[in-house]
Amino acid sequence: MPTGQADLITTSEAILSALRPSPGEIVLDLCCGNGLVTERIAPHCGRLIGIDFSEPLIRIARSRIPNVEFVVADVTMIDGKLLGVDRVDAAYLAFAFHNFDEAKARKLLTQLNFIAGPKFRLFLESIPDIARIKAHYHTRERMAAFQMRKAEGTEQIENWWSAKRLDAVARAEGFASEPRMQGADRVNSHYRFDALLRLLT
Ligand SMILES: C[S@@+](CC[C@H](N)C(=O)[O-])C[C@H]1O[C@@H](n2cnc3c(N)ncnc32)[C@H](O)[C@@H]1O
Repeated sequence: MPTGQADLITTSEAILSALRPSPGEIVLDLCCGNGLVTERIAPHCGRLIGIDFSEPLIRIARSRIPNVEFVVADVTMIDGKLLGVDRVDAAYLAFAFHNFDEAKARKLLTQLNFIAGPKFRLFLESIPDIARIKAHYHTRERMAAFQMRKAEGTEQIENWWSAKRLDAVARAEGFASEPRMQGADRVNSHYRFDALLRLLT
C-alpha cells in the first residue's frame, strides 16, 4: 500500500507507464483496497472495475470515488459474468502479490486468461524479491522477528518470489512475465520488483 502522497504518485505512474491504458479500454484494479490507487488510474481508462474481498474497504472506495465500479470478490474467483464484461484489456495488482502463493497466483491467472482480450497485459506491482530478502530484514534481529511471525502465521509478507519462478508460473497459465526493476524513487525498491505479463502468442 503506498505509504504517502509521493509514493502514491510514483506507484500510479509506474502502473500507467507499464499498461498505457487507452480511453476505450476495460481495466481491472485487482485487490484495490480502499481505492487510493484506483482514484488515480480511473481517469485514464474507458472503464475501471475495482475488486477486493474486503467489504469495509470497498465501502470506503465507493464513497471516495462514486463514479467507479467496485465488486466485492476474491480475485481468484472472478469471471466475465461476475464483472459484467465480455473481455478485459488490462489489469494491475498493486502491493498485494505478497498474499499470493503459487496456487493462488495460478488460479488468478487462469481466471484472467478466460476474460483476457487480445492485447491483455497485467502489471504486478511490488513483488517481494526472494533474492533481496536480506535487504529488507537487514539485521539479525529483524530476520529473527520475521521468522517468528512466520512460524506464528502473523507475517504480513507471506510470499517471496523470484522473477524466474514467476515466469514459470505465468507460462504454465499461458502468459510470459517480464520483470521490471523499480526506480529508486519507489519506497520499496530495495526489496521489491514489478512484472508485466502478456498472453503467450
Ligand atoms: C496492502 S492492500 C493494497 C491495496 C491497494 N491495492 C493499494 O495499493 O492501496 C492489499 C489488499 O489486497 C486484498 N486482497 C488480498 N488477497 C485478495 C484476494 N484473493 N482477493 C481480493 N482481495 C484480496 C486485501 O483485502 C487488501 O485490501
